[in-house]
Amino acid sequence: MKIGIDDIGLSVPQHFFALEELAERHGIDPQKYLVGIGQEFMAVPAPDEDIVTLAANAALPLLDDASRASIATVILATESGIDQSKAAGLFVHSLLGLRADCRVVEFKQACYGATAGLQMARALVAQRPHEKVLVIATDIARYEQNSEGECTQGAGAVAMIVAENPRLLELHPHQGRYSLDVSDFWRPNLRSTALVDGKLSIEVYLESLRNAWQSYRADGGLGLEDMSFLCFHQPFTKMAKKAFSVFEAIEPEAAKALGEKAYSTSQLYGKAIGNCYTASLYIALLSLLDNSDEDLTGRNIGLFSYGSGSVGEFFSATVVPGYQAHSRRKAHARMLASRTRLGHEQYSNWFYGDNHPAVADYSTPYVTGGAFRYGGCEGYRRQYESTALSLKMAS
Ligand code: CAA
Repeated sequence: MKIGIDDIGLSVPQHFFALEELAERHGIDPQKYLVGIGQEFMAVPAPDEDIVTLAANAALPLLDDASRASIATVILATESGIDQSKAAGLFVHSLLGLRADCRVVEFKQACYGATAGLQMARALVAQRPHEKVLVIATDIARYEQNSEGECTQGAGAVAMIVAENPRLLELHPHQGRYSLDVSDFWRPNLRSTALVDGKLSIEVYLESLRNAWQSYRADGGLGLEDMSFLCFHQPFTKMAKKAFSVFEAIEPEAAKALGEKAYSTSQLYGKAIGNCYTASLYIALLSLLDNSDEDLTGRNIGLFSYGSGSVGEFFSATVVPGYQAHSRRKAHARMLASRTRLGHEQYSNWFYGDNHPAVADYSTPYVTGGAFRYGGCEGYRRQYESTALSLKMAS
């Protein structure tokens, strides 16, 4: 049975901040961020945007009457949870008008959660092939202001429909996994920003990749020589180059034959958006599918997912004939091209201001141009609403 990604969509906030300007504020050479880290911009959510609105915006274009009727599970993966108890996916399920006899669950393991979601979705579709699973990766990456991590912030969501006989990517059954209890990046309860040991996090990421690759090969996975492209979890796009160097060390001939083009197209979106934790790997995948000028039909793609703390997984997929007909590349290009640049003060207010205070009742200003907005809290109950855009898209 062929199971995989039948449809995939991206959503990013409509505002961004340039890392060149951040470098000026930090009094350092902009080339450190642009080249050394490999980031140009970070996506900045407005006060009335959060992981729920990003998730719902990413999924909305994928839905019609037929897909609404066949989605029986929603798995929302995030590091940026909005409630200690209730799954954020329940708000998304409601905003999207999905059927009531649907299971909704939230997955958490730092940046890895969506990959666990994808594997669970694959197993559910194998069990009940007439049903589809909506997997959404959605995050806002936040570090303390003026910390080393600030230049790797970002925000965005990727929604994927997993189904039998997929129209985009067939997932292979081989899995390479590696878990290790380590404190390289974490976010204690009640903190809105992550704590990180940056250098350790890079070391553990690379160790995790080496081990996950061995595990994938031992599970009967493809050799590197059978792959055309590699997509890595990209907290910052330079990380893809570091990850590729693992293959240059352990599979030198195959890595040389692949060269930098194995991952360079997958870096394009990440450079313009920044880290989106759970969504970053899938943004890399979309960047490859949307921006490659080659026909990718029949090509094998290796994917490495990493979530600090830590879990790594290597898996692979084949691009399905006819995939181009289902591409949303034009809509994604429009979304990125129409963003507005923020100055430092506005970015700082939105990322670090007290826009979502820990009080029972507050409202947010109307800023978003997206299909859904976060209106604030009433008695600690989060309030979401559809905007005129979602009504227009539905009609
Ligand atoms: N021109 C060009 N390059 C320059 C430069 C200049 N003027 N100045 C410095 N550089 C280069 C450095 O040589 C270095 O390159 P290499 O990594 O190839 O050696 C690069 O810029 C970064 O410089 P530093 O190592 O000095 O940077 P830093 O100490 O400020 O921290 C960081 C970098 C550790 C990534 C930090 O941004 C951080 O902590 N980020 C958050 C954590 C993170 O993203 N970890 C990644 C793995 S964990 C993960 O993947 C999960 C997740 O999503 C968080």
